Amino acid sequence: MACWGLFLPGLFSDRDPPWQATGASVLLGLLVTTTVGAFAGVWFGIRGNFGSPEEGDLWWWLGSEGLEYLEVGRLWKLLLLGGLAGWTGLVLRSVRQLDEPLAGLGHFLVYAGGSIGLLFGASMLYTPETNMAVTEFWRWWVVHMWVEGIFEFFVIAIISVALVSMQLLEKEDAEKAIVFEVFAIMAAGIVGVSHHYWWVGLPDFWVPLGTTFSTLEFVPLVFVLYRSIGEYRSLKSQGESFPYKIPLLFILGSSIWNFIGGGVLGFFVNLPVINYYEHGTYLTVAHAHAATFGAFGLLALGLGTYILRVVTPEAVWDPTWFRVSFWFMNIGLTIMVVASLLPVGFAQLRAVYTDGYATARSLEFYEQPHIQTLLWARTFGDTPMILGALAFTAGAVRHLYAARKDSIETARIERRLLQ
Ligand code: HEM
Ligand code: HEM
Repeated sequence: MACWGLFLPGLFSDRDPPWQATGASVLLGLLVTTTVGAFAGVWFGIRGNFGSPEEGDLWWWLGSEGLEYLEVGRLWKLLLLGGLAGWTGLVLRSVRQLDEPLAGLGHFLVYAGGSIGLLFGASMLYTPETNMAVTEFWRWWVVHMWVEGIFEFFVIAIISVALVSMQLLEKEDAEKAIVFEVFAIMAAGIVGVSHHYWWVGLPDFWVPLGTTFSTLEFVPLVFVLYRSIGEYRSLKSQGESFPYKIPLLFILGSSIWNFIGGGVLGFFVNLPVINYYEHGTYLTVAHAHAATFGAFGLLALGLGTYILRVVTPEAVWDPTWFRVSFWFMNIGLTIMVVASLLPVGFAQLRAVYTDGYATARSLEFYEQPHIQTLLWARTFGDTPMILGALAFTAGAVRHLYAARKDSIETARIERRLLQ
C-alpha cells in the first residue's frame, strides 16, 4: 500500500517532483535493511546471542522486545519510524503539486499515512524498566489504534482515491465520504481501545466504556459494506472492456471482509460476556485472520494489481493468474475461518465456561481428538490460500517482466529517434 501511495499522485499529475525516484529508492533500501535486520535481530535475540538483561541493553536495541506485534528491537523501530516519516514527506511533495486545498483527496492520504507513523511513536514510550501494565497500555495504542482507527482511515482514503482515478467516483463525493466515515471510525475507535484495558491490568470500569464505543465501530463498517455494494454495481455495469476489473474485484473483496472480519467477528469478541471468557482463544485467531488478511491483505494485493495494470503493456495484460489467485485466497480464507478457527474457538469458549480458562488453554484441550480433527481441517483452507499466493506471485513476476521489457524497448526506440 505504501508503493501505491507513492505511485498514485503520478496518475493525477504529468510529472514527479525532482529527486522523487531517488527518494523512493532510498525508502526501499531502508525498508529492506529494516526488515532483514529486524527478522535477524528477533531470531538471534531469542537465541540469546545479544546477552541477557543483566549483561546490558543490546538485546533491547537489536534483538526481541518480546511483545506480540511490537517485538522488533528499538533500533529497527527507529528506522521504521524514519521510513514512515520519509514516506509521508515524499507523498506530501507529490500531493503539493496537485494544487488542491488542504481538505483535498490527496491530502487525506498524507494525513492517514502520517498518522500511522504518529501512532507508531507510542511504541517508543516504554523501556525495559517500565511496568508491564503501562507497557501493554502503549502496545495497544499501536495495535488497536492502527487496525481499528488509522488503517481504516487509510483504507477509506486509498479506496476513494483508487475509485476516483478509475473514474467510478466523483472527487467531491469521495472527499465528503472520507470526512464522514473517518469521523465515525475515530469517534468510536479512540475510546474503543479500552476494550483491551481490563486485560492489561487497568480498572474494570474500562470494560463497559470500551465495549460501548467499540460496538459503535460497527456503524461505520456498515457504510463500508454499503460502499462495497456500490463497488459491485460499478463492476457489473462496466462490462468486459473496463480495464480495472481485477483491482476492483480485490477492493470489493477487501470491503466485504472488512465488514465480516472486523465488523461482525470484532463486534462478537468485543462483547464483555464473550471477551471476558474468550480472551486470546481461537475466536480471536478467527477474528484476526479474517480482519487482517481479509481487509488489509486483499486491499494491498488489489492495489498491486492496479499498479501492474497501469505499467503493463495492453497486449500482454492477462488477468487469469490474478482472478484464480483472488478466488483461491477467498475460498481458502472462508474455509479456514468457518471450518476450523471458529469451531475450535466456540469449543474453547465452552470449555472456559464449564472448566475454566486454564483448562481451555491447556495442551490437553488441543489434544482432544475432535479438536485435533478441527485443527487439521484448517489445511483445506490453508492450501488454497497458499496456492492463491503462489498464483499471485507468478502473475506479478510475469507482468513485471513484461513491463520491464517494454520500458527497455521504449528507451531504445527513443534513443534511436534522438540519434
Ligand atoms: C479490520 C479491522 C481489524 C483488524 C485487522 C483487527 C485485528 C485484530 C488482531 C490482530 C487482534 C489480536 C491482537 C492481540 O491478541 O494482540 C484483535 C483483537 C481484538 N479485536 Fe480486532 N481487529 C479489527 C477490528 C476490530 C473491531 C471493529 C472490533 C470491535 C468492534 C475489534 C475487537 C477486538 C477485540 C475485543 C480484540 C481482543 C480479543 C481478545 O481479548 O483476545 N476488532 N483484533
Ligand atoms: C496458510 C496461511 C496461514 C497459516 C497456516 C497461519 C497460521 C497461524 C497460526 C498457527 C497462528 C497462531 C495461532 C495461535 O495463537 O494458536 C496464527 C496467528 C496469526 N495469524 Fe496466521 N496463518 C496464515 C495466514 C495468515 C495471514 C495471510 C495473515 C494476515 C495477513 C495472518 C495473520 C495472523 C495474525 C494477526 C495472528 C495472531 C492472532 C492472535 O493474536 O490471536 N495469518 N496464524
